[in-house]
Amino acid sequence: MIVLKTEREIELMAENAGILREILVELALKAVPGVTTAELDRLAARRIREAGAKSAFKGYTDELHRIPYPATICASLNEEVVHGIPSEERVLQEGDVLSIDLGFVRKGYYADAAITVGVGEVSEEAERMMAVAREALKKAIERATIGRRLSDLSHVISSTVREAGYFVVREYTGHGIGRELHEDPRVLNHGTPGRGPELRAGMVLCIEPMVKGDDLPLRTKEDGWTAVTRTGSLSVHYEEMVAITPEGPRVLTGWIWEEYCRRKTLSACAAR
Ligand code: MF3
Ligand code: CO
Repeated sequence: MIVLKTEREIELMAENAGILREILVELALKAVPGVTTAELDRLAARRIREAGAKSAFKGYTDELHRIPYPATICASLNEEVVHGIPSEERVLQEGDVLSIDLGFVRKGYYADAAITVGVGEVSEEAERMMAVAREALKKAIERATIGRRLSDLSHVISSTVREAGYFVVREYTGHGIGRELHEDPRVLNHGTPGRGPELRAGMVLCIEPMVKGDDLPLRTKEDGWTAVTRTGSLSVHYEEMVAITPEGPRVLTGWIWEEYCRRKTLSACAAR
């Protein structure tokens, strides 16, 4: 069942999403060589506490995972697709590609988003994959309008990614969000257009393309969470929260990448 949100609820979710964006951008800017993913996790936990919120991920369980998620953020490096567990042993190095996923609950409503950034200078290939994933997300968000069908968004993600020579992850998907972290509908990153529910005002979706260089099923590491590509190919992930409104798509998280670029104040960053 898809729970529609009132305008008041959307305002509250936008307030939460703004806080989330701020924290995520701060974490992304701190992702430099020499920093551990555990340090980023501690900073995230502190910022969430200061905001009067509670981690959405810590202690999270579902039928796919045998142990509760042990950390505040997911810090997925290189061939890790999602759910990378922060660790004192993971010291960021120049050339790493880091995806940071963060979720919290505040005033009864969830917020959830992710960004992928390069640590220092990264390869052209990594830059390109990140740009393709952002473009797929942007196109999906543009289509988040009343009367469209849900799979129109899924389709534009997969076709954008496929045309660029990459592959989407099928095991994990986007989702509705509200009083629960994961609500209906599932937002697949692949599909044929014109299927699924019709988009209506008051829906709030987390759209989250996950892109990789091979088309094989993912593997989950011994830790019970970290999902990696089968061939060790690079993988990237972006996620924004979008409300469907009569005025069109409203990106509650406000384009996290662009904010990251603004704050990094590198014109090179904005250009790509
Ligand atoms: N952004 C992810 C999602 O929407 C993060 C889940 S991490 C978990 O599913 F630990 F909560 F599973
Ligand atoms: Co999500």
